[in-house]
Amino acid sequence: MFDLKLTNATLPDGRTGVDIGVSGGLVTAIEADLGGEAGEVIDAGGQLVSPPFVDCHFHMDATLSLGLPRFNESGLLLEGIQIWGELKPLLTQEAVVDRALAYCDLAVSQGLLAIRTHVDICDDRLLGVEALLEVKRRVAPYIDLQLVAFPQDGYYRSPGAVDLLDRALDMGVDVVGGIPHFERTMADGAASVTALCQIAEKRGLLVDLHCDETDDPLSRHIETLTYETQRLGLNGRVAGSHLTSMHSMDNYYVSKLLPLMAEAGVAAIANPNINIGIQGRHDTYPKRRGMTRIPEMLTYGITAAFGQDCMMDPWYSLGQADMLEVASMGLHVAQMTSRNAMRQCFAAVTTGPAEILHLDGYGVEVGCKADMVLLQAADPIEAIRLKATRLAVIKGGKVISRTAPRQSKLSLTGRPEILDPAKVGPRL
Ligand code: FE2
Repeated sequence: MFDLKLTNATLPDGRTGVDIGVSGGLVTAIEADLGGEAGEVIDAGGQLVSPPFVDCHFHMDATLSLGLPRFNESGLLLEGIQIWGELKPLLTQEAVVDRALAYCDLAVSQGLLAIRTHVDICDDRLLGVEALLEVKRRVAPYIDLQLVAFPQDGYYRSPGAVDLLDRALDMGVDVVGGIPHFERTMADGAASVTALCQIAEKRGLLVDLHCDETDDPLSRHIETLTYETQRLGLNGRVAGSHLTSMHSMDNYYVSKLLPLMAEAGVAAIANPNINIGIQGRHDTYPKRRGMTRIPEMLTYGITAAFGQDCMMDPWYSLGQADMLEVASMGLHVAQMTSRNAMRQCFAAVTTGPAEILHLDGYGVEVGCKADMVLLQAADPIEAIRLKATRLAVIKGGKVISRTAPRQSKLSLTGRPEILDPAKVGPRL
């Protein structure tokens, strides 16, 4: 007897026509024609059942604040930071909690059930930290929310940030963050990387730094981050976010750097929608696109992921908590258009970030948590192509969101009445 059974599912690894049995919040069986009664049966109809989407790079303290106190007219990273600095003193805990919860509701509807959010600690009140710790507690039944202590205005550059970061970690923030390229000098940036990795080592925490988010090819803090990861034995626990300078770096230098990252187990997080919007802004033509070298990293076995970074905040006006939209942007910017590379883009918003977050029991496999998304798509590539509708979102074996299938009612003589976009495929 199962609590829930999904029948005739396709899995991201290509298995088709399988039934998935769920008991006690876990996946307990996956096989064709699974017998046994179930409390609830969902006919997947041959469509894709995926583990939930994971966003490993977000700023939940800023989301849904678009236009407060003004819009970013230049589109530059630095104007975004300036606007956020103007908004910070005006923030109230209630408003931050309210916006974050509204975002989380949207995330659930999009099958996004694990999020790593940076939270700005450059604020004597640590208001954002308190607010997001409260949000983390409230959404815990349905979203794994991981917080990163992020010194937005610089770990050394911002007065008090060294102590504030420690205080934030004492309060329960999970991950050590940083922003070495924003420090006053390259030397200060490198020193901040060393100090932050040492804090993580001492406290037994993960590290995720905004690293080299610049077009300057000589911004090489990823080298120091990789070195400190190796030196301190933090292998597999460190991520470099953005790494956009690598887009512009000398190819020879990168050919030395990537094997070192692989050896140290440093993961990479690109944020395609933001990187393509913000980088290359000082160029005329040709304009650099700024995204880091994800396909090359994957060939070296480096764990890589795409994050959303921003939604309706001082840096980005758009977004809809849709990790398939993020995967699609990453696919295009990185020219990851082969069949295998497109599947890697789907992995970059599911299994890749799950590994970076160290999520337990993630995956549609026997023994894993029964957290799943039924998509209106035949496979991962079609899911990206269609930004597929999340027909059902399942957490702990319970359906927590349903969306009606996307279909159009046509009025064309001699043509079918109902058009299901997922049924329009190649014709031989
Ligand atoms: Fe970010």
